[in-house]
Amino acid sequence: MTSSGLPQNAGPDGARVVAMLRELAELTGDEAGAQRVAWTDVWQTARAFLREQLRELPVTIRTDTAGNQWARLPGGGSGTVIIGSHLDSVPDGGWLDGAYGVMCAVEVLRTLAARGPLPCTVALVEWADEEGARFGHSLFGSSAVAGMLNVADVRELADGSGQRLGEVVTEHGVRLDDLDEARQEIHGARAYLEAHIEQGPVLEREGLPIGAVSGTVGVERHRVTFRGQTAHSGSTPMDMRRDAFLAAAATALAVRDSAVRHRGVGTVGAVSLRPCIVTAVAGEAVILVDQRHPDGGALTAMLGEAHRASTEAANAEGCTVSWEPVFRARPQPFADELVNVVREVCTEFTGQGRVLPSWALHDATQMAGVVPTAMLFTSSTKGISHAREEDTPEEHLRLGVEAFYRTVSHVIARTSAGAGSAG
Ligand code: HGY
Ligand code: MN
Ligand code: MN
Repeated sequence: MTSSGLPQNAGPDGARVVAMLRELAELTGDEAGAQRVAWTDVWQTARAFLREQLRELPVTIRTDTAGNQWARLPGGGSGTVIIGSHLDSVPDGGWLDGAYGVMCAVEVLRTLAARGPLPCTVALVEWADEEGARFGHSLFGSSAVAGMLNVADVRELADGSGQRLGEVVTEHGVRLDDLDEARQEIHGARAYLEAHIEQGPVLEREGLPIGAVSGTVGVERHRVTFRGQTAHSGSTPMDMRRDAFLAAAATALAVRDSAVRHRGVGTVGAVSLRPCIVTAVAGEAVILVDQRHPDGGALTAMLGEAHRASTEAANAEGCTVSWEPVFRARPQPFADELVNVVREVCTEFTGQGRVLPSWALHDATQMAGVVPTAMLFTSSTKGISHAREEDTPEEHLRLGVEAFYRTVSHVIARTSAGAGSAG
């Protein structure tokens, strides 16, 4: 018997996980990258692919009112260990972001099912709309399960074409008026574990294949609208212009400078202009600002500096400016005891137990508020993610599968040994 109380024989097959990921990439990507954007047919194709991988397993599959897909492998006792990640991607995204953790979880279920009766239930979850790529609000499904989603805040969020979140998610089976029912899914949960690529440069820079995640940084994400005066780009003298784009551009540079000053990160990744033609000065400019920092105080300072800079820039250009919050998360530490399990497993496999923060958000961010939570990272090649170049050396991916399986096995053993919550 292994130290986790499970019989010795079977083991997870990392090569099978890589094969599933390559097949999924083929099915749901193109030359520009992954196209599994939430609330689209391609995303639903990815979800059907997941159900296909689970078909021969003795699991019950269902979707909750927030659109999260669950597969439960029943076991003894009253506790549940939840494992999972997300299948949705950003447009032109990478083949591994989210999908790696979901396919790791499939392989863990497959291996556990082959080993015989379980001392507790193990539930795989594939979260709905982790990225928030279409409406700006990340962690949609996990926020609902964690009781951290206010429907009134999101129902009217519009995508680039003006479609409202409320209508679109309803077409995909989400029941916004019954969203609270999704919170039942974590009844009896003892731990949440997620495997994910780092999406940054740290593990690769230090020559490490895997690491343990201490938690996720805080995030402030806002929609900032500048209004000036649309005018002819030729006949309008420079001293008569009220150029909304220039006010937005100055603010974007100030967001960058503030992030550098505070050793955080600040991004303006989306901008839209009206009328957005070469022969007119932009009368309206909308930018999406994303600021992050591991320290809540520094994040608040960065947000204040961005606000002040936007007011100064608007005044300088004779424009008005308004801010609308889109998504925010405080810095979220993971459960020390579970982080230590991951760190020890990493040490068993690599001789080093590197613990690092995640500058990317994850569904684990929301789960950590309600269930003892931890994550395992694998390296990211050149630290690139949210791009078609996203990649990880295959041997790191395969090692991550084994390390994740061993982590889950240890946590199952703790859960069934009546250690209460495993965190
Ligand atoms: O925002 C994030 O970091 C995540 O990729 N949605
Ligand atoms: Mn992700
Ligand atoms: Mn992502």
